[in-house]
Amino acid sequence: MNLNTHIVGVGGYLPERILSNEELSTMVDTSDAWIRERTGITQRHILAEDQQTSDLATAAAQQALDDAGISVHDIDALVVATTTPDMIFPSTASIVQYKLGGKDFPAWDIQAVCSGFVYGLAQVDGMMRSGMFKRVLLIGAESMSRIVDWTDRNTCVLFGDGAGAMVLEAKEEQGGMIGSVLHCDGSYRHLLMAEHKYEGNAPGKKVDFRVDAAGVAAVEMKGNEVFRVAVTKLSEVVGEVLEKYEMSKVDVDWLIPHQANIRILKATAKKMQMDEEQMAVTVDKHANTSSASVPLALNHLYRQGKFESGQVLLLEAFAGGFAWGANLIRWSK
Ligand code: COA
Repeated sequence: MNLNTHIVGVGGYLPERILSNEELSTMVDTSDAWIRERTGITQRHILAEDQQTSDLATAAAQQALDDAGISVHDIDALVVATTTPDMIFPSTASIVQYKLGGKDFPAWDIQAVCSGFVYGLAQVDGMMRSGMFKRVLLIGAESMSRIVDWTDRNTCVLFGDGAGAMVLEAKEEQGGMIGSVLHCDGSYRHLLMAEHKYEGNAPGKKVDFRVDAAGVAAVEMKGNEVFRVAVTKLSEVVGEVLEKYEMSKVDVDWLIPHQANIRILKATAKKMQMDEEQMAVTVDKHANTSSASVPLALNHLYRQGKFESGQVLLLEAFAGGFAWGANLIRWSK
């Protein structure tokens, strides 16, 4: 039996609060003009104090389930790609399973920062083709506002919160996932990171773990170095995924890139010789929502009814690690 992984439901969620560039300019030494010109961002969504990543994930997942016309009881695995889990453990996926009212199916998180959804799609696709699961809920969800230093203008202007989700179903019909390529090069790990702060805690030490030893340091990034590598690697990976699956640039109808910076998006579209109208752009309104960015960008076009059956979508992302990758999909919904 030849199984293919089809997208049968799509959803997204953005928290209510919008933080504009103007408002941000009252907090750090920046300006709307600088942010727009250097990144394309005009605003970002910020989760409420009483919300957590699992809440954003649950809302996006419920919309994807509704879109697929099924309930959480029809799902047999749930995966959350996130860099900002509610807790160190249990996994955010197990919390989302509970919040959705599901039970008794496997749920786990994956961590590949902004490439988390692209990695997740590759992983889940492999498992579904092997017959392991029939229907999987894959979610990318982030509360980046919780791990940025709101006094650092180099990073705080770049990120936002949100979640995107897909229901995937293994079917014998042709279409759906064509395939993926993934990469990681840990020699770049120091250029983009957020450290855990466990120092001070060891056997025999009497530290107040909650006050002195635990925590996450804010995002640190060498922006212009990340930018240079991202443009090069993304342009390579889109070529690589097409070559691997014996397709060419003209076969791609829609480019769904990770939304970090409009200049990076435009560079990849140029490499693909694609019109900018064929590319999902949400960075202006969402900023960089890390692992949520690709599914939210896809959801944005989907809600406008843009995709036609048989069209080819190319998803790509670049992340801390550095970890990057791409997925090719033949739309079949
Ligand atoms: N407002 C005003 N000025 C700012 C600023 C801000 N928010 N942030 C930085 N600057 C200043 C810097 O201090 C620097 O000033 P200096 O020249 O006096 O030192 C100047 O702007 C240029 O900084 P630079 O870092 O060279 O700018 P850039 O053109 O590379 O743009 C980024 C910065 C972060 C927008 C860009 O490098 C980027 O998008 N990088 C990639 C991010 C990314 O892809 N992440 C991906 C994986 S998630």
